[in-house]
Amino acid sequence: MEHFIESQQLTPEIIFDIFSRADEFRKDKIYDPILRGKVLATLFYEPSTRTRLSFETAMLRLGGSVVTTENAREFSSAVKGETLQDSIRVVSNYADCIVMRHYEEGMAKIASEISKVPVINAGDGKGQHPTQALLDLYTIWKETGRLTNLKIAIVGDLASGRTARSLCYLLGKFPGNEIIFLSPEHLKMKQDIKEYLSRHGVSYREEKNLDEVLPNVDIVYMTRIQKERITLDEYNSARGKYTINQNNFNLLNKNARILHPLPKIDEIVLPLETEEKDDRVAYFRQAENGLYIRMALLVHLMM
Ligand code: CP
Repeated sequence: MEHFIESQQLTPEIIFDIFSRADEFRKDKIYDPILRGKVLATLFYEPSTRTRLSFETAMLRLGGSVVTTENAREFSSAVKGETLQDSIRVVSNYADCIVMRHYEEGMAKIASEISKVPVINAGDGKGQHPTQALLDLYTIWKETGRLTNLKIAIVGDLASGRTARSLCYLLGKFPGNEIIFLSPEHLKMKQDIKEYLSRHGVSYREEKNLDEVLPNVDIVYMTRIQKERITLDEYNSARGKYTINQNNFNLLNKNARILHPLPKIDEIVLPLETEEKDDRVAYFRQAENGLYIRMALLVHLMM
């Protein structure tokens, strides 16, 4: 892989190669400085906590350096009217890899067509967030021991949620998986993903009642209603429709897992004790896995 722009690029072989390296980083917690002398540029035109900080930590842990614009929309020359193309042309002369998040779908692909160094899509509007999907898949694998024959409920704003879209592409690469979509009526999963799943023989269906689904799934992948991508009316009519709380949490099978790409707002409301002690809550382990996966990905693309 030269650039990592969309989940479909990954093959099971590449996925397990990255997973195996991530396993080593996860186990050792002491890292050889194998990226010493390399520079990572993080260009974020949208806010981020996990993605930007885990990429930057990954680079530093491996001995590399980081240059960054944490709010490129406001503090880069984009504010003076510079095109993304020109910015990438310039930054790709400074850095050995560019991690980019943009508010418009398709911009990571455009950047990759211009850049002289690998570009990693850290989220492009309503498009994709493939490194999140990779760490989601890794978490599913670590938590359940498999990537096949899983029943997965994907819940929330599926029309704007790029993590859910990217994850569907990856789930489609492994046989026997069954996806159940639950979303407010106006925020359903788009047709392109449904067609991809059909083409790849992945069984999916749409359901309305979360409590009826919870006892029968291995994974519940909760997502946030993306307030910044929809109208206030759309947001108000979606908010609170699908939530996990202590009552319906107890409907889950004892081996099931709740994942969430985070940040979570009010779609998961569980007591601290449950979040800390119940193994079914996997979303903070998932966020930690992001570090190991991103370390493995940087090595994969830069060495
Ligand atoms: N999951 C995720 O992309 O989180 P951030 O927006 O904090 O990077």
